[in-house]
Amino acid sequence: MQILGIDVGGSGIKGAPVDVETGQLLAERLRIKTPKDGEPEPIAQVVKQIAQSFNWNGPIGIGFPAPIKGGVALMAANVSEKWVGTNADALFSKVTACECTMINDADAAGLAEMTFGAGRGQPGTVIMITLGTGIGTAIFHRGQLLPNTEFGHLEVDGEDAEFRASDAARQREDLSWKKYAKRLNRYLSAMENLFWPNLFIIGGGISKESEKYLPLLTIETPVVTAQLLNEAGIVGAALGALRK
Ligand code: BGC
Repeated sequence: MQILGIDVGGSGIKGAPVDVETGQLLAERLRIKTPKDGEPEPIAQVVKQIAQSFNWNGPIGIGFPAPIKGGVALMAANVSEKWVGTNADALFSKVTACECTMINDADAAGLAEMTFGAGRGQPGTVIMITLGTGIGTAIFHRGQLLPNTEFGHLEVDGEDAEFRASDAARQREDLSWKKYAKRLNRYLSAMENLFWPNLFIIGGGISKESEKYLPLLTIETPVVTAQLLNEAGIVGAALGALRK
């Protein structure tokens, strides 16, 4: 089965048709800059543009950086407040004339890694952590997702974790890899003490540079890099549409 997977991020919106049985992209992905202010209607227009570029009229799965229930974003940390309360599934389906299903972006990346990547066959508790503009989390036990966890907003040392340990924080504060690894370690250690997972999988753009910070981590739990790298968001968004 083929589903168009679309990953909505703070800077870019990326999409490609996905074979959901194999996790393969069926065409080269298309990336379009996220419209300024990131409001629902302009983003829906980009989704339409991506669908049209692939002559798409089948189902579409969309990963989005907010907790999502029944197609509605429940909270807006790094996106326009206008999303909260908007039925995005209905809006996108109307604009594209395709059946659209939205899912949290970290849940999407986690589903992709659990199905085709670093978490495949892992029976215990696996926590996917995406490091980007924010910190996204997806928690799995025996392969089952507990959706919409928002542990990027866990308070660590009196601050929202993503404010100190996201990749955006590293860039904003121009942190050395050593300093950043210390912050990431602090965050992972807080998560470790709450969940005692069997594995952490690190995703997001920063996963490409894992040799710069993974060796500096000192927590007990094994930490690996996402295997699908920047395709996880697209593949997982497509998988999300199967869960409707
Ligand atoms: C949002 C999450 C999202 C994460 C990664 C956080 O700020 O609250 O829903 O998964 O960023 O994009």
